[in-house]
Amino acid sequence: MKKYTANELRNLYLEFFKSKGHKVIPSASLIPENDPTVLFTTAGMHPLINYLLGEKHPEGKRLTDVQKCVRTGDIDEVGDATHCTFFEMLGNWSLGDYFKKEAISWSFEFLTKYLEIPVEKLAFSVFAGDEDCPRDEESAKLWESMGVPKENIFYLPKKNNWWGPAGITGPCGPDTEMFIDTGKEKCSKDCNPSCDCGKYIEIWNDVFMQYNKTAEGKFEPLAQKNVDTGMGLERTLCIIQGVSSVYETELFMPAIKKIEELSGVKYDKDNNDTAKPIRIVADHIRTATFILGDDKGVTPSNVDQGYVLRRLIRRSVRFGRQLNFKKGDLSEIAKVYIDQYKHVYFELEKNSSKIIDELNREEDRFNTALTQGLKEFDKLCSALNGNIIDGAQAFRLYDTFGFPIEITCEMAKERSLSVDVEGFKSCYEEHQKKSHMGAEQRFKGGLADTSEETAKLHTATHLLHAALRKVLGNEVYQKGSNITAERLRFDFSFPRKMEESEIKEVERLVNEAINAKADIICEEMTVDEAKAQGAMGLFESKYGEKVKVYTMGKFSKEICGGPHAKNTGDLGRFVITKEQSSSSGVRRIKAELKND
Ligand code: ALA
Repeated sequence: MKKYTANELRNLYLEFFKSKGHKVIPSASLIPENDPTVLFTTAGMHPLINYLLGEKHPEGKRLTDVQKCVRTGDIDEVGDATHCTFFEMLGNWSLGDYFKKEAISWSFEFLTKYLEIPVEKLAFSVFAGDEDCPRDEESAKLWESMGVPKENIFYLPKKNNWWGPAGITGPCGPDTEMFIDTGKEKCSKDCNPSCDCGKYIEIWNDVFMQYNKTAEGKFEPLAQKNVDTGMGLERTLCIIQGVSSVYETELFMPAIKKIEELSGVKYDKDNNDTAKPIRIVADHIRTATFILGDDKGVTPSNVDQGYVLRRLIRRSVRFGRQLNFKKGDLSEIAKVYIDQYKHVYFELEKNSSKIIDELNREEDRFNTALTQGLKEFDKLCSALNGNIIDGAQAFRLYDTFGFPIEITCEMAKERSLSVDVEGFKSCYEEHQKKSHMGAEQRFKGGLADTSEETAKLHTATHLLHAALRKVLGNEVYQKGSNITAERLRFDFSFPRKMEESEIKEVERLVNEAINAKADIICEEMTVDEAKAQGAMGLFESKYGEKVKVYTMGKFSKEICGGPHAKNTGDLGRFVITKEQSSSSGVRRIKAELKND
């Protein structure tokens, strides 16, 4: 196998797919646009959902990129050899262009000719078939035709060999996954790649996205057949470099060296007692650095992405205690990552002071409470009647000492206790009702809901953005957007509460733009042309060449993937229903369109 470095592997992948007619597009933000069902970008396909559903991509039908992703579902697995909460996904897409034959032969060529992985070290899985979609003999035959022995191809059911949708609804389909066979003995007669005994490690997935899962749970055939692939950079590096976990690659080793230096604890991969906290801190601080450093980055809070970030940092503070960390040590680790990744993800350097300040601030907030909270936890455990911490006790740890419920559960587990999480939830909801926070509507509306209503609200979001800049000044820029069928939510940078008169003026301007009944025009152009025309948008593209620019009369010009209404006059009456703080320096507006 060729021992490429991370930099070499990223470039090799992109160059390979460029040579197969793909255009390289930039990594999108970690915070998904207009997707109410998920908190983070979890796969390379996520920012491409509209194009998988049929919209035309300005760069064409063959795309490739390296996408930064966050997945926290496996957080309890972090510390083992292969799980991380942040990872980079190498991907290539066919948007209604090539299908199984090309996708599989290119995957095979890349694995065996470029990475030089011997074919006998590879195993493959294909979809076994069910009432929604037939058995994928075509993929199995294609692998066989390339020299893969039959016994290394496994037919697996939907549970294992179906990918997506990323949220609740959206594009999905059967997949064929590629695994490294580590050479370990089979754990049983039936051992296969879906088994977690460690014999097989998944490194790549080719998804044949030909269905749209509807809100009713039906799989409808898509108008176009797509290919969506994802190869894990960390895992692949670990395999080709022949190291025993992702933590021993150069992606983590500089941070681990820093942790050794700060803590005086030596990293010994075979000593779980010390390796585990070191790996957890190394993983979580890398993820926190990328979340805070994203151009649409969030800050720690008690809701949504901010809560995940808070959890990652607070968990690092807790494990940092086992490593004798001092105040400020977490941000020392973040600095290592900023330095290491800044040539690939420019935003980390640009946002470095925010990353460091917010990490320090969150560490301070939790540190003081943690000492007291741990005492409280000890007291509570010794006074416990039975082995369950009740909901009210867990809520007190959360509310008074800032212990995320997951941390309380983890600490309880270490003492063979459990927590009444349902009881915690009802205390939490009771508290929320009292403090009028209102429940988040995250699961309303579907992923990539491209209904007319959401398209109109999306158009209204552009008008709102432009109006805010007119009324509050050019320091306003978009920090986040989330649309359901009922309302839009728009986060923007601004340091203070808006005056009532300012809110009214913004509303008036948006309605004026609606009443002007301007046609909405979409043009494709290069980022430079868009900039020259004064279009708004995050000019975050590095490789991306062409973008779409939506123009709404004289009022708004913005880079955006769409979709939008056809004419501003279609929108109805725009009403701001809420203006509130989102996080420090960021305000949040919720607004609706009325058809009266
Ligand atoms: N979207 C596919 C995955 O994440 C490629 O595995």
